Amino acid sequence: MPNILITGGAGFIGSHVVRLFVNKYPDYRIVNLDKLTYAGNLANLKDIEYKPNYRFVRMDICDFEGVCKLMREERIDGIIHLAAESHVDRSIKDPFTFARTNVMGTLSLLQAAKLYWDEISLAPGESGEKVASPCSSLAPGEPGEKVASGGQGEASEASNAPFRRLFYHISTDEVYGALQMTHPEGIEPPFSTKASSAEHHLAYGEKFFTEDLKYQPHSPYSAAKASSDHFVRAFHDTYGLPTIVTNCSNNYGPYQFPEKLIPLFINNIRHRKPLPVYGRGENVRDWLFVEDHARAIDMIFHNGAVGETYNIGGFNEWKNIDIVKVLINTVDRLLGRPEGADLDLITYVTDRAGHDLRYAIDSSKLQKELGWEPSLQFEEGIEKTVRWYLDNQDWMDNVTSGDYMKYYEDMYGNR
Ligand code: NAD
Ligand code: TYD
Repeated sequence: MPNILITGGAGFIGSHVVRLFVNKYPDYRIVNLDKLTYAGNLANLKDIEYKPNYRFVRMDICDFEGVCKLMREERIDGIIHLAAESHVDRSIKDPFTFARTNVMGTLSLLQAAKLYWDEISLAPGESGEKVASPCSSLAPGEPGEKVASGGQGEASEASNAPFRRLFYHISTDEVYGALQMTHPEGIEPPFSTKASSAEHHLAYGEKFFTEDLKYQPHSPYSAAKASSDHFVRAFHDTYGLPTIVTNCSNNYGPYQFPEKLIPLFINNIRHRKPLPVYGRGENVRDWLFVEDHARAIDMIFHNGAVGETYNIGGFNEWKNIDIVKVLINTVDRLLGRPEGADLDLITYVTDRAGHDLRYAIDSSKLQKELGWEPSLQFEEGIEKTVRWYLDNQDWMDNVTSGDYMKYYEDMYGNR
């Protein structure tokens, strides 16, 4: 029975990955490590919190000793690392927090994984002396000081489970920088997938992000993620740590914190609040339904080639302003308002500093090598997403209480 550590599992994408793994693999033990920042929310995992193969641990990934102890206590075989500070606008206001969590936190996990996996491969009698390490100074089973367990079940005894060790790092397409918008009116795209809507499937340039592209991050968020990607590859190349990196396009779906475009705007439309569109709304993002990202992570975790990078995306480019109109029409229709009644909520505001113009992922490597494909068309995904937020007003009320109003005022008050 493999023991898998998922970091950031109380966040948006992490909660979908935890749910998928806990339900699909009852023989795996899933340990969810999360600091529960403003973005982490255990309500995202209510439906699986008492499953016997699941444990939640509240911990900061920067707590190196705590991570070492946890890896040993749970005999971790594989890591899926999602914990991060993830919002570009926050990174512009507070870059230090992003460097700390995304860079130092990733380094802490890498070093803990390296030390622990080295230690168990050099067990006495196998390869002579053990390597002295913070991990090896810990007694087996000794819980980390800052570990608080909220789940149930015992750690597996199967320390030599025939499961490949893997450090799987989840990253973003934003590390590649911005693509030119050579065709603002849109052109026939060279690729199509199920995610690409039949009606709106356009590309806004000939170039796409491919895995071999040079990194050119612009925001403090993407710079910190780029740095963490480099550390992951350095641990593979220098120490032989088995790693995989994936870079995914913008995700949308249930449980996303309403600081990001889609949940923020759904909530504002519902409450008839202004919709702060940055600049002229011409920036292009490539959108993927979050459950399709989770399925890709599952497939790559099990079948991806060690040392490789895979881009994940649905060839589904949209200008922000077009998405905003789809959201208005969908919310209005589902709430029984005349369709388009809320178009006048659109409010153009000062652009984001360093706003990347266009993201567009080429995921053909993943599609060809592992056969992954999105399962949903964008229109279906958006409909499901809007319905979920409208049906889960308690969840939204809960995450928008407390500090959220202050955040909103700071971010949009004088924009
Ligand atoms: P999120 O902000 O919703 O969740 C992040 C989670 O990490 C939260 O639960 C938070 O509590 C936890 N966390 C933050 N700092 C921590 C720390 N120091 N120690 C432990 N836990 C900590 O983010 P998300 O949108 O779910 O993104 C998850 C990952 O996917 C990130 O690495 C992000 O860079 C990447 N990604 C996101 C998108 C997207 O569109 N959201 C796209 C591509 C890649
Ligand atoms: P966001 O959801 O923050 O994701 P990212 O910046 O990682 O792509 O933003 C998506 C797009 O929407 C981006 O071009 C910025 C724009 N945007 C707005 O126009 N207004 C907003 O209030 C927000 C949050 C985003």
